[in-house]
Amino acid sequence: CNIVVLISGSGSNLQAIIDDLAGHPKAHICAVVSNRADAYGLIRAEKAGITRHVLNHKDFADRLAFDTALMQVIDQHQPDLVVLAGFMRILTPEFTRHYAHRLLNIHPSLLPKHKGLNTHQRAIDAGDHQHGCSVHFVTEELDGGPVVIQAALPIQSNDTAEQLAQRVHALEHQIYPLAVRWFADGRLQLSEQGALLDQQPL
Ligand code: GRF
Repeated sequence: CNIVVLISGSGSNLQAIIDDLAGHPKAHICAVVSNRADAYGLIRAEKAGITRHVLNHKDFADRLAFDTALMQVIDQHQPDLVVLAGFMRILTPEFTRHYAHRLLNIHPSLLPKHKGLNTHQRAIDAGDHQHGCSVHFVTEELDGGPVVIQAALPIQSNDTAEQLAQRVHALEHQIYPLAVRWFADGRLQLSEQGALLDQQPL
């Protein structure tokens, strides 16, 4: 399973996936692509000996021009799976359609709650008792594709968004590698009925 990972920042989820797949007989991270040259995740990729590409969205006239160039870079690696790991760009329908059934994202909320940004503060403001993260297949709807796995934790009454973000991050590092591994092992797929694990609805 050829995997390409897209990042914009620290890449701690990338690291969790690199560590988990080390020694996997079939799964191979072929490349890491960042839209920011200063993303720390690029250093993580370098340390792991993974090919890196930087494509700055500001160098392109519009979203579609950027996504088209991005698809060209990604497709050089003939990926079976594209993993969005803190990639902070909204993708065009052209992009999401091109990678339909082989595009995963992690979102820091218990979807369908709190799509979009600032999820930790929004969960606190909403008075939620629980918060967490979700891995989902990406479709045209932002943060709206079929959920593969979620992890939840309780919100404490004195939690700040920062504290909550840290605890959710630790959960992300547990569930994202699991989902990627399921896909690489041929156990996870997107069907008409949604995400299936071992042919069972999730
Ligand atoms: C994570 O919180 C992820 O859910 C998101 O961006 C963050 C990426 O963190 N949307 P990292 O770059 O993997 O450390």
